[in-house]
Amino acid sequence: MNKKITQVLRSLEKRADYEKKNYSKIHHDKRMLAITKDTGIFYNLLLRIHKPKKILEIGTSFGYSTLWFADAMSKNSKIITIEKNPKKIKFAKDNFHKAGVANRIEIKEGIARDVLIQLSKSKLKTHEQFDFIFIDADKEEYPFYFDICLPMLKKNGIIAADNIIFPKRFKKHIKKYLNHIRGVKSVKSITFPIGNGQELSFKI
Ligand SMILES: C[S@@+](CC[C@H](N)C(=O)[O-])C[C@H]1O[C@@H](n2cnc3c(N)ncnc32)[C@H](O)[C@@H]1O
Repeated sequence: MNKKITQVLRSLEKRADYEKKNYSKIHHDKRMLAITKDTGIFYNLLLRIHKPKKILEIGTSFGYSTLWFADAMSKNSKIITIEKNPKKIKFAKDNFHKAGVANRIEIKEGIARDVLIQLSKSKLKTHEQFDFIFIDADKEEYPFYFDICLPMLKKNGIIAADNIIFPKRFKKHIKKYLNHIRGVKSVKSITFPIGNGQELSFKI
């Protein structure tokens, strides 16, 4: 693994531990709500095999998951990541600089629904451009994110989503998401009980 990226990941993990123990004391804008470390390792290994050239992420936060992805990718690859909270974007930018990968990561600031509509509009540029898409933002929007992202995903590409099993308060939205994607013929989906539960949908 890249040394600089590892250093930033380790410092963010310390922050995540602190957040777990002091959740109610931390202001909403300063909560990372990041994937777990084992989830990061899982995606890092998966992407080393999958060798993506271009990734789209919905829900950047402090950039913890983004850095696990960046570490698995080649130097000429690119990640587009979407975040609505300017304070979190500031933290994420700082982390990407420290990790030495800022030139490969484009943060799109805004409401994900709006950013994705914009992205999908310039069809020639965006059609089937991503190899891997990671959904980790507002759970009630997961089906919308999936539908708008699917045409932007290359064949044999993967749409992954976090929080499929935990926390239980998302159960209603996640159930809707799973019912929704299981009805889509062009993908095969499977749940991995890693971290908070990952749903991987392969475009076949
Ligand atoms: C669970 S956190 C993402 C964690 C990150 N993927 C990681 O593992 O390090 C979700 C993030 O999505 C952002 N978010 C939630 N709803 C959004 C929306 N509709 N548009 C853009 N960003 C959104 C939140 O501000 C938050 O930072």
